[in-house]
Amino acid sequence: MGEFVKVAAASEIPPGEMTIVDVDGQEVAIANLNGEFVAFQNECTHRGGPLGEGILMGDVVECPFHAGQFNVRTGEVVNAPPSEPIATYAVQVEGDDIKVEKP
Ligand code: FES
Repeated sequence: MGEFVKVAAASEIPPGEMTIVDVDGQEVAIANLNGEFVAFQNECTHRGGPLGEGILMGDVVECPFHAGQFNVRTGEVVNAPPSEPIATYAVQVEGDDIKVEKP
């Protein structure tokens, strides 16, 4: 397992919300799925839309550019136009610290 780095405070991301953090120069989106935190590549695989600024619906994120959709747990494409999955990253929560495995 890789190295985990602290990226955010759990108390700053309410359920159903997302935030974008920088992990070693790479943008990673963190989403709060009703108390469970997941981390995934911020950049949409279609044309690079910022997924963390999109819409979170359950465990699906909709890209703000062309409404492509991904499952944020698995990274799989749920709805075109993207055809390639996004990367997902392991998350650890310790107290109020959210830690993400380095990409
Ligand atoms: S850039 Fe995300 S759907 Fe086109």
